[in-house]
Amino acid sequence: MYENQKERTRTMERTIKIFDTTLRDGEQSPGCSMNLNEKIEVARELEALRVDIIEAGFAAASPGDAAAVAAIADIVHDSTICSLARCVEKDIDAAYNAIHHAKDARIHVFLATSPVHMEYKLKMTPDEVIASIAHNVAYAKKHCSNIEFSAEDACRSDLDFLCRAFEAAIKAGATTLNIPDTVGYMTPDEYAARIRYLREHTQGIENVVLSCHMHNDLGMAVANSLAGVQAGVDQIECTINGIGERAGNASLEECVMALDTRRDHYGVACNIETTQIYRASRMIQTITGVPVAPTKPIIGANAFAHEAGIHQHGVMANKETYEIMTPESVGIPKNAIVLGKHSGRHAFEDRLRELGYSLDQAKLDKVFAKFKVLADKKKVIKDRDLEALIGVVPVSGEERYTLDRFVINSGNSITATAVIRVKKGDETFERVAASDGPVNAAYRAINKIVDKDVVLEDYSLKSMTDGEDAQAEAIVKIVIDGGEMVTGRGVSTDVIEASIKAYINGINKYFID
Ligand code: KIV
Ligand code: ZN
Repeated sequence: MYENQKERTRTMERTIKIFDTTLRDGEQSPGCSMNLNEKIEVARELEALRVDIIEAGFAAASPGDAAAVAAIADIVHDSTICSLARCVEKDIDAAYNAIHHAKDARIHVFLATSPVHMEYKLKMTPDEVIASIAHNVAYAKKHCSNIEFSAEDACRSDLDFLCRAFEAAIKAGATTLNIPDTVGYMTPDEYAARIRYLREHTQGIENVVLSCHMHNDLGMAVANSLAGVQAGVDQIECTINGIGERAGNASLEECVMALDTRRDHYGVACNIETTQIYRASRMIQTITGVPVAPTKPIIGANAFAHEAGIHQHGVMANKETYEIMTPESVGIPKNAIVLGKHSGRHAFEDRLRELGYSLDQAKLDKVFAKFKVLADKKKVIKDRDLEALIGVVPVSGEERYTLDRFVINSGNSITATAVIRVKKGDETFERVAASDGPVNAAYRAINKIVDKDVVLEDYSLKSMTDGEDAQAEAIVKIVIDGGEMVTGRGVSTDVIEASIKAYINGINKYFID
C-alpha cells in the first residue's frame, strides 16, 4: 500500500531545480572567501553534484570576482552559470561580460522591495523601484534570455507591492522570480501563504519559475524552503554546508536529502547526484577552514553514528531501526583501513576512485608522492588520511614558498625559539625568531622571511584520524598587509609541522590572489 502510494506520487512529480549560491552568497560571508583556483575546484564539484544552476559570483564586485565567474563559465558545461547584478546597467554589463561564454547563462538582477530597504538603503520611492525593475530587467533581457529577478527582503515587503514589482519584472522579460527571506524572518506557514498569495495575485506568474532563497537566522531556512516547494516553488537556492551571510543560507544537503528521503511526502524530484554530497561538504570545509558541527544533519561526524548500546543493537539487526537514509547514499565512505606502505599506485588510485575523486594526472602524482611519505610514517592509511592529503595538495602555481626544514627549541622554563628554512624556486631562506610559544616563534621567523606584515586572526588544530600516529590538521586565517583574509591549511603527523605548513600555505595563497 505504502509503496503503491509512493509510486503514484512519483508519476505526478515535479522536478525542483537546485540553484547553488555557495560561490556567491556563501563566499561573501566572513571567513569563507576563496581564491580563483579554489572557486574553480568548487565549481567542478558542483557540476559533479549536478546542480542545475551555479551562481558563480557577483561580477561587478571586483575584477577578481569577474575573472572567477568568467573562468567558471568557460569550464562548466552541464550547469547553467549565473552572475548576480544590482539593478544598474554597469552591473548587468559586468555580469553579461563574465558569463556570455557559458553554454547556458543566466543574469540574476536584484532590487529591494521592503519599506525599510527602499527608504533607508536605496533612498528610492516605491514608484522609482518599480521603474528601475522594469528598465533594468529589460536591459538585461537584451543581453541574455535567461533572467532571474529577486525582490530583496521580499518577506518584509508589502504583498500587493511585491505583486506589482513581480508584474513589472515579468513584463520586462524575467523568466525566474525569486522570493528571498533576506533576513531569515519567516516561519514555514507564513512563507507558504506568501507564495500562494503571489501566485493568485500576480499577472503572468504562471509563465515563470518561482524560487526560494532562505536565510537561517531563526534556524528555519530549510523548513521554509520545503514549505515553499509545497506552495508551488520550483527552485531552491542553497549553499553547501549552509554557509552564507550571518547564520547562513538553506543547506543544500539538508534540502536535497529531505526531498529525496521524504519523496513520498513532497512528491517532487531533483537532479542532484546525492553520492557527491559528502565530498562537496568536505571540500568546502577544507577550502574555507569552516568546520561543520558533529550534529549537523547529513554531513556532521555523528549524523550516522550510533552510540547508545540499544541503538547499536538495533542497527546491527536491521539498519532501518535507526537509519532513515544510508551513509552510502550521500557518499560517506565506509570507514575501512585501506592502504599501507606496500600499496602500489593501482590500489591507491582505485581507492581514490571509490571515494569519488577524479583528479587530473598532475594532482594525482603529487598526492601519490605525499601518500608515500606518509606511508613511511604511519602503518595504515585510512580514507580520512587520503582526504587530508588531497585537501593540501596545491594547485599549480600555488607554491611560492615551501618548507625545507625547521628546528624548534621549546620548554616550560625557556623562551621558545624557531629556526625555519624555506625554499622559493632555487633560493633558500633561513631565519630565527623567539617567542613565548613554539608555533608563534615559527610564525615570527616566517614573517621575517617573507618580509610582510602578517596578522594571525585565527588558528585551530585538530586530529584528522585516530590513534597515536594520527594526522593533525592546522587551519590559520591570516591577513597580510591589511588585505583580505586568507585561509591556510597544513596536515602532518607532527603538530608543529602542520602549523608551519598551514601558515606557509596561507602566505602562498596571498601571493597568487
Ligand atoms: O538574501 C538575499 O536577498 C540575496 C539576494 C541578492 C537574492 O542574497
Ligand atoms: Zn542571500
